[in-house]
Amino acid sequence: MKTGAVICGLGAALPSRVLTNKDLEQIVDTSDEWITQRTGIKERRIVSPGESNSKLAVEAAKKALARANISPYELDLIIVATFTPDYLMPATAVLVQDQIGAKNAGAFDLAATCSGFIYALSVADQFIRADRSRKILVIGSEVLSHKVNWEDRTTCVLFGDGAGAAVLTGSTNDQRGILSTHLHADGSLWHLLTVKGCGSLYPPCGDELPREEYYIKMQGREVFKHAVRAMEIVAREALDRNNCSPEDLALVVPHQANIRIIEALRERLGLPSEKVFVNLHKYGNTSAASIPLALVEAEEEGRLKSGDLVLLVAFGGGFTWASALLRW
Ligand code: UT7
Repeated sequence: MKTGAVICGLGAALPSRVLTNKDLEQIVDTSDEWITQRTGIKERRIVSPGESNSKLAVEAAKKALARANISPYELDLIIVATFTPDYLMPATAVLVQDQIGAKNAGAFDLAATCSGFIYALSVADQFIRADRSRKILVIGSEVLSHKVNWEDRTTCVLFGDGAGAAVLTGSTNDQRGILSTHLHADGSLWHLLTVKGCGSLYPPCGDELPREEYYIKMQGREVFKHAVRAMEIVAREALDRNNCSPEDLALVVPHQANIRIIEALRERLGLPSEKVFVNLHKYGNTSAASIPLALVEAEEEGRLKSGDLVLLVAFGGGFTWASALLRW
């Protein structure tokens, strides 16, 4: 199969404020021990007043463009994967377009929760397969701390804020780039992970909905089971499509939700620990931002080398799940 888009620059942005498990012990009935053992998370980043989704997205975008050595004027399209935009209207992507000066780019947001970055990567890849000269900025950016119920210990310990960006263009080398992307959804299970309030069904000032429904609600154990199963299946789908096996992989970059989900996936694929990237101890679950944040760090740590076979795999509310196989 011919390769599609290649990632030519990555960038990350994180709020400076750190919220540790010890800090959370002061807020809800929890412990560092419980959070560490059940999730692998030790701390997460939280926005301060004045910081926003678009601010993080712009910072990550500028870094990715600088790394790619591409001017904002050259961009054809900007896609921001998020479910925590600055506003319901306009899209966060147009705020980014304005603030980085990408005068020639179209811009839209994409809502696919934690699978959003891979979904956006897939859209960008289709555009670039149609015209290899196109240059597209894909961002995963979330401010989950404003969608978390700080009285609900079953969710508030899990999430964090951040943004990661990737610049994509056509590969000049047929050996490098995205080999394939695989997107799936099962809307019949939407009720297991929701933020019901503030949409058009339950407007912000309505009184039909209990207060906790304006924040993230999750049936964690159910989500966990589905996540493990779906991530293995979609990982194997990408490998099979490209006649590869798990042993061929140099690195798996999974969505960072829970170390036990990542470990279960690693075991099911029969991979050693060093082939699976983990940074959720530092940032928690940052939804659409988690994979690009992990890619930035994997590259900085020298764990992504030219020619490496790299698998991205994610699962999130919806449910949605997705994978992408890349030749780095
Ligand atoms: O981003 C994609 C979507 N999200 C995910 O993939 C997350 C999937 N789910 C999970 O990661 C896990 O299910 C959780 C981390 C959310 C929960 O872990 P668990 O091992 O499934 O715990 P549980 O929900 O079965 O709860 C076990 C116990 C309960 O107490 P009882 O009923 O056994 O007495 C909870 O009340 O742990 C209790 N508990 C806590 N205790 C201390 C729940 N949250 C906490 C907490 N601190 N923060």
